[in-house]
Amino acid sequence: MTDVVPTVALNDGNLIPQLGFGVWQVSTEDIVPAVSTALETGYRHIDTAAVYGNEEGVGKAIKDSGLARDDLFVTTKLWNDQHHNVVDAAKKSLDKLGLDQVNLYLIHWPSPAKGDFTKAWEQMQEVRSLGLAKSIGVSNFHQVHLDAILAIIDTVPAVNQIELHPTLAQRELTAYNASKGIVTEAYSPLGLSKDLENAAVIEIADKLNRTAAQVILRWHLQRGHVVFPKSVTPHRIKENFRLFDFELDKADLKAIDALDAGNRVGVDPEVADF
Ligand SMILES: NC(=O)c1ccc[n+]([C@@H]2O[C@H](COP(=O)([O-])OP(=O)(O)OC[C@H]3O[C@@H](n4cnc5c(N)ncnc54)[C@H](OP(=O)(O)O)[C@@H]3O)[C@@H](O)[C@H]2O)c1
Repeated sequence: MTDVVPTVALNDGNLIPQLGFGVWQVSTEDIVPAVSTALETGYRHIDTAAVYGNEEGVGKAIKDSGLARDDLFVTTKLWNDQHHNVVDAAKKSLDKLGLDQVNLYLIHWPSPAKGDFTKAWEQMQEVRSLGLAKSIGVSNFHQVHLDAILAIIDTVPAVNQIELHPTLAQRELTAYNASKGIVTEAYSPLGLSKDLENAAVIEIADKLNRTAAQVILRWHLQRGHVVFPKSVTPHRIKENFRLFDFELDKADLKAIDALDAGNRVGVDPEVADF
């Protein structure tokens, strides 16, 4: 792993780089150049999913990079129609990625209307014991979903990947994750770029001579979240990695904490019906 990015310890003893690169909505055309730019920049953690349709491109960029497998952290996710077919779905993803093992495999959504997330969690343990994933976790799980799996299965997810950005701080769920030893991963860390327009963020960025994106990403790091901003724009991919030569002070952190307004940019897992 690159020295500059801190790692966070997971409850199974594995380490995850705190900053990664997300590839949701990155097209087949853009995926190889975007991931290649990210790897050249120094990112060593890539977050994809079966449903993003770009696992092959992620795999190609990894192969082209010539980087050692041990230097990379790769996450992919189980789609909602595969809750009863987890091992096969994991193998399909690995095939597309051209890897023998992912570092982290996640149940993408609890999707209680369509799937069976407790059944899926049982099978996720098999994915890990077969060596198809080093660590296993969940995404978009609220307390009710975590409680449902922990009531019947001892294995605690290593992470819970949830929508989290300054205007959706998710304090209760983050605290609940922490109380169970689950690391919080913050998806849509820039609020799909909407939080970049916030006046308080821009004021701090101007004061520090940084960009709004760098200030928000720095806030995530200092709050302990794992983040993986997405961009297909080379200068932004590089900008989002330059986070390790400045710090936010207590007043800056508090000012960003105060922006929480329950502003979801994605789907609420309670009402998701896909
Ligand atoms: N588990 C889940 O259900 C779930 C859901 C959503 C996301 N995720 C994961 O989280 C990752 C990140 O979240 P996200 O893609 O939703 O949103 P995001 O990273 O918050 O925002 C991405 C948007 O911000 C723009 N952007 C990035 N860096 C910028 C910068 N420095 N200045 C200005 N604009 C910038 C990008 O534009 P350009 O690309 O045009 O540069 C893109 O439009 C995803 O890619 C995915 O891996 C997971």
